[in-house]
Amino acid sequence: MAPRERIPIAADHAGYEMKEKLERVLEELGYDVEDLGANSTDSSDYPDFAHPLAKEISSGEAKRGVLLCGTGLGMSYVANRYPGVRAAVVWSRDVAELSRRHNDANVLVLPSRCISDDESVAILKAFLDTPFEGGRHERRVAKIERDAEMP
Ligand code: RB5
Repeated sequence: MAPRERIPIAADHAGYEMKEKLERVLEELGYDVEDLGANSTDSSDYPDFAHPLAKEISSGEAKRGVLLCGTGLGMSYVANRYPGVRAAVVWSRDVAELSRRHNDANVLVLPSRCISDDESVAILKAFLDTPFEGGRHERRVAKIERDAEMP
């Protein structure tokens, strides 16, 4: 039997409650969840949670991860500083699919204050189930890294 994929997930206080719900969903879907905090709705700083998760993705320790904060923005700013991390702030199922098909997103960033619980579940499932399309998008994604040859 193939080992279950481990998915790291992290949030600040604003994303804590949605994170807890999505952990249940991930477990039901058969994933091994790695909860990197926060552990309550007490005020906290999103970089403290985004850095450890982004490091895991950048190093290849984990293939995909999920971050949550109020707008998704702070978490994405931190995660996208790491080589090889493509963190997508996603607010709809369609954007989730496109973030995978076109951008090969490997971190899903959810704006917990801007979407409903139902939307977060639909977005998460679309992110997990949608493959990267490759082809012309492969070249564009390769150009994202800073040391890629510029035109
Ligand atoms: C916390 O109030 C909020 O600023 C944070 O969750 C996030 O939205 C930052 O980008």
